[in-house]
Amino acid sequence: MGFEPTTPRLRVLCSTKLSYGPVLNLEGFEPSTPGLKVPCSTKLSYRSLLLLKSLLVEIYIIKLVYIIFMTQNIYKLTILRLDHRPYRDKRITTHCALVSRAFGADEFYFSGVEDAGIITVITKTNENWGGNYQIEYVSDPLLFVKEFKKRKGLVIHLTMYGLSVMDCIENIKIERKNKNLLIIVGGSKVPPEYYQLADYNIAIGNQPHSEVSALGLMLYLLDNGSLTKNFTNGKIKIIPDKQFKKIIRN
Ligand SMILES: C[S@@+](CC[C@H](N)C(=O)[O-])C[C@H]1O[C@@H](n2cnc3c(N)ncnc32)[C@H](O)[C@@H]1O
Repeated sequence: MGFEPTTPRLRVLCSTKLSYGPVLNLEGFEPSTPGLKVPCSTKLSYRSLLLLKSLLVEIYIIKLVYIIFMTQNIYKLTILRLDHRPYRDKRITTHCALVSRAFGADEFYFSGVEDAGIITVITKTNENWGGNYQIEYVSDPLLFVKEFKKRKGLVIHLTMYGLSVMDCIENIKIERKNKNLLIIVGGSKVPPEYYQLADYNIAIGNQPHSEVSALGLMLYLLDNGSLTKNFTNGKIKIIPDKQFKKIIRN
């Protein structure tokens, strides 16, 4: 059982038994020590040790999952830009994509005319400035929105005819916590189906302005105005400075 046999007539208060791994059985380290003056025999069960160990591992895993979940929004933020017309709004669509990237969106889709130039600009921007932002052309945007809704995503359509953003933003922030979010911006006249499919038609003020500003403000408000999205793996990083342009090149 161990180094030392039981010690019934010893005067010492505690008998300490040393034992090596393979000799131990599931019942414990030490048999009871009836002859001792003070009963201080500690029965350590191997089973309870194993239980304690697995409990600690479980707590550790739960903690890890919690940290990952809290620090990373696992739900995607997607932007859909309708009806791109290269002859008219080449730079506007590019700017919608750039603003969405900078202010926290994960992916950008555009419909209308398929324009490889926009995809090239954004891919280059990602290479230089980092992040995992995705851009893709979508040929059937209405089907895209329907599919998104089928998967229980939350859909917001930005339009000057909608409800005031300031009246809805807190509800949207709560609802999006456990949902993917799609924000739609128009180009030319937006067909009525989009108004009906949207969970929210949201106005950034009820005056006509631009899809770039509408998107920028919506994303700013969604993110509580933090402007702190982190972009990893870029070639260029800016060192903010009061007076000079400072960058680090990787
Ligand atoms: C230049 S506007 C054209 C609007 C278009 N004539 C229409 O009837 O929807 C292009 C897009 O910018 C966005 N936009 C413009 N003004 C907005 C506003 N006040 N609030 C929210 N979005 C706006 C909308 O997404 C709109 O579809």
